Amino acid sequence: MEELLVSNSHSKEEKYKFLVPQIENLLKSENDLIACLANVCAAIRETFGFLWIGFYLVKDTDTGKELVLGPFQGPLACTRISFGKGVCGKAWEEKRLIRVTDVNKFPDHIACSSLSKSEVVVPLLHKNEVMAVLDIDSEIYACFDEIDERYLVEICKLAESKL
Ligand code: SME
Repeated sequence: MEELLVSNSHSKEEKYKFLVPQIENLLKSENDLIACLANVCAAIRETFGFLWIGFYLVKDTDTGKELVLGPFQGPLACTRISFGKGVCGKAWEEKRLIRVTDVNKFPDHIACSSLSKSEVVVPLLHKNEVMAVLDIDSEIYACFDEIDERYLVEICKLAESKL
């Protein structure tokens, strides 16, 4: 296990280009899903310093399926999210990435931290079923753009191989 190297470039794209191969390498040597997701969170947060980053996993409960909090880094977070609820539940329902530039304008947003201003959620799929979502919160409005989308999808594709 090597230490994560963080690019000192000011370019977001350069940082991702430096980060993705390291995540790829990290995942090569471990097949346990939780261990892999935990290190993916740490690697992204070490690189970008986002307010909160974590995975919610789709789990069976007495009342049906729910998103349950998985590996994360940052302040405490809500533990369960229903299908279609919040940004995470919506990304699960619609099986698509959702990027929110201002969380106050997303009608159903679930506020885990009052500091969060913008958010991006990327679903992880197996056989066309959402198994988990990656959720990232920033304390800056419109923090995420097409570059984040492209590389976060790439990272989630790598993580999907562990589902
Ligand atoms: N804001 C999310 C809830 C999870 S926290 O941000 C960690 C949502 O609306 O689904």
